[in-house]
Amino acid sequence: MKNLQDKKIVLGITGGIAAYKTPDLVRRLKEQGANVRVVMTQGAQAFITPLTLQAVSGNAVADSLLDTQAELAMGHIELAKWADLILITPATANTIAKIRSGLATDLLSTLCLASAAPIAIAPAMNQQMWHADATQANIRTLNKRGVAIFGPGKGEQACGDVGLGRMLEVHELVELTSQLFASNVQTSPRQALPTTLSGQHWVITAGPTREAIDPVRYISNHSSGKMGYAIAQAALNAGAQVSLISGPVTIEPPQGCQLINVTSAQEMHQQALSLTQNQHNNVTVFVACAAVADYRLENIAQQKIKKTDTSDTMQINLVKNPDIVADVAKLPNKPFVVGFAAETQEVAKYAQDKLIRKNLDLIAANDVAQQNQGFNSNQNALTVFSAHEQFNIALANKAQVAQQLVAIITQQNKPIKNKNHYNRET
Ligand code: C5P
Repeated sequence: MKNLQDKKIVLGITGGIAAYKTPDLVRRLKEQGANVRVVMTQGAQAFITPLTLQAVSGNAVADSLLDTQAELAMGHIELAKWADLILITPATANTIAKIRSGLATDLLSTLCLASAAPIAIAPAMNQQMWHADATQANIRTLNKRGVAIFGPGKGEQACGDVGLGRMLEVHELVELTSQLFASNVQTSPRQALPTTLSGQHWVITAGPTREAIDPVRYISNHSSGKMGYAIAQAALNAGAQVSLISGPVTIEPPQGCQLINVTSAQEMHQQALSLTQNQHNNVTVFVACAAVADYRLENIAQQKIKKTDTSDTMQINLVKNPDIVADVAKLPNKPFVVGFAAETQEVAKYAQDKLIRKNLDLIAANDVAQQNQGFNSNQNALTVFSAHEQFNIALANKAQVAQQLVAIITQQNKPIKNKNHYNRET
């Protein structure tokens, strides 16, 4: 992850409890080669001292618009021009409202107006404040203007509430910041992030299914679950509510998702349909990333099947499993449906065929015959097809691939004006 090498980041810190995490953030950004200059609001200084941030960043901390000494060292216009990115963590509801309104009442809000650099914010606030109409309207407007919105995450809050509004963890913020500068994104970082998914409910299937033969044996597919879990994490990061229906895997689920563990294809089918059918769940996107077993045993033996000396072969009868993604795509009020196609040959042809046959909105194809990508690997490369378009996601770690896929899904689900920033082929 060397996307941050020599990048100049103005780190704005505002007055939220999560400000205590920012010294660690500064250190991690610097580890990646970034140059960091910290700007603090008055509120931030109630939670953490400028001296701490000065020590870790190696630069004087700016906190006042009208400080003659500071203006002599690096004036606010100079700082605005210096920045490759203005990253605001935590971003309070107050600062978000100021930026949206174009107020210039302190150094940080003034910089946001005075700089041509992209802006990224990591909102952090009480869940009620996050859900307030005013905050949501501010977020939507900022998002439309190209401001990248990192999170917030879901979970227990400092005030004791549980819900959306937690600042993302430091490693997630570093990863997202790095992705903003990723070379495989075609244009300016301002356009590279998915729009905020606040208010959306994504259901994602992941991992393999297991079809029992008897109490000790089963049939299954290769699948680590890493790709599906990375998509769940990317959707959570963009603010969606996420239900993750997972077959048996050995990796940890992302914090803040609703995890539904299943074993067989029939169980996965039942959970997926009951979630997507119920209008109250308001499922907006269904991503079928699971490697579902196509067949199951007609009859599962109740006791362990014994080896016999009389025959060298054994017969088992298989019956077809239900096609989960195709059944979700048949629902009268179907969500936006995304399938996967893991192929070993003629990837594009088979993927496009599945798109049509299963009535999908998008299909993400990967060539599992290629080494270093696909199942069990930490990396992947995808070609995503809609009925009329094709998008290429270059080989990268699964977190980066997932973030780009979430961005494509979001654009395609609710088209926005500028769709040209992916490597699109029509
Ligand atoms: O037909 P095939 O298994 O190749 O299709 C792959 C896509 O369909 C994947 O998105 C997979 O998760 C989904 N699928 C499913 N239920 C099945 C088989 C596949 O949802 N029974």
